[in-house]
Amino acid sequence: MDHNKKIIFSGVQPSGSLTIGNYLGALKNFGKLQADYNCYYCVVDMHTLTVRQNPEILKERSYQVLALYLACGLDPEKNVLFIQSHVPCHAELSWILGCYTYMGELQRMTQFKDKSARHADNINAGLFTYPVLMAADILLYKTDMVPIGVDQKQHLELARNIAERFNNIYGDTFVIPEPYIPKQSAKIMSLQEPDKKMSKSDTNVNNFVLILDSQDVILKKFKKAVTDSGCEIVYDEINKPGISNLINIYASVKDISREDVVKEFEGSRYGDFKVAVGTAVAEALAPIQSKYNDFIADKAYLDSLLKRNAEIAGENARKTLKEVYEKVGFIVF
Ligand code: TRP
Repeated sequence: MDHNKKIIFSGVQPSGSLTIGNYLGALKNFGKLQADYNCYYCVVDMHTLTVRQNPEILKERSYQVLALYLACGLDPEKNVLFIQSHVPCHAELSWILGCYTYMGELQRMTQFKDKSARHADNINAGLFTYPVLMAADILLYKTDMVPIGVDQKQHLELARNIAERFNNIYGDTFVIPEPYIPKQSAKIMSLQEPDKKMSKSDTNVNNFVLILDSQDVILKKFKKAVTDSGCEIVYDEINKPGISNLINIYASVKDISREDVVKEFEGSRYGDFKVAVGTAVAEALAPIQSKYNDFIADKAYLDSLLKRNAEIAGENARKTLKEVYEKVGFIVF
C-alpha cells in the first residue's frame, strides 16, 4: 500500500444479487479509482443479519459479491477485497463506538424507521445499532472517502459525528470521512416505479435488472419498463421519470452524455428505445457474466484471496483499534 494515497472504503451487503444500479452507480467506477487511491471493498455480511437470512444463501452471496467485484475489473492486488466477519476489529470497535452514540441519534435514522416498519415482527437491536457498525467499518481504516448513494448519507454523517465526538474527548484518533460521489455515477431508478431507487431487495423482480440476469431476461425487463405520457425521448426527471431513467442507463452504459442519447434517439419510438437500452445493457454485461462464471467456479482461489486480504485489512484495523483501546484506558500489550 502506498501511504501517500487517500483511502477509500466501501461496503456492500450480500443480501441480494447486485443490480445494474450497483454496477452503474458504483462498481463500474471503482475500477477507475484503483490507480489513485488505496481502496477497501468490504462485503458486510454482519450487517445482513439485521434481517433474517438463509445461512446457505448468505454464504453463496458473499462469494457472489466477491466474484462480481473481480469480474467488474477490480484488481485483487491493488484493492483490498475482504469480508467483514473475517476481521473481528469491526465488531470490537463497534462496541466502543456504541458507547459514544446516543439513542436519540440512532432513533433519527430514516433507514431504521423504514426498515422497522417493513420488518415489524423483527425490530432487533442490531437493526437499531447498524449505523454504529457501519461507522466502525469506515473509521477503522482511517478512511478519507466513502463512495455512497444518497440513502447512506445520513449514516455517514453519523459516523462523522461519532468520530468528532471521540476525537474531542481523546485527541486526534479518527480521520473524519467525506462522502465521495463520483461525477458521472448515475442514480438508477426502478424500471416499474421510476420515482424510487432500483433495489435488489424489491419484491417485484421487474423493478430491477440484475448484473447476472440472462440476456433474455434483461431484454424482457427493459421491454416491460414503464414509460411516460407523450412520445418524445427527452430528459425530464419530473414529468418523464421513466424515460429519463432509461436515458441515464443508456448514457452510463455507453459512457456518453444524456444530450448525446437524446440526439441519437430523436424521432424514435419508446418501444424501439427500450429495446436499444436493453440490448446495450445486455451487451455490456455479457463479458462480466462470463468472467464471473469463471471466478465463482474457483472457490479455492476466492478463499485464498479472502484469507490473504483479511490479514491485510486486519493488520491495518488492529492498529487503529489498539490506539482506541489505549485512549479509552484498556490495558494493551
Ligand atoms: N449500509 C450500507 C448499505 O446498506 C452498507 C455499508 C456497511 C457500508 N458498511 C459500510 C457502506 C461502510 C459504506 C461504508 O448500502
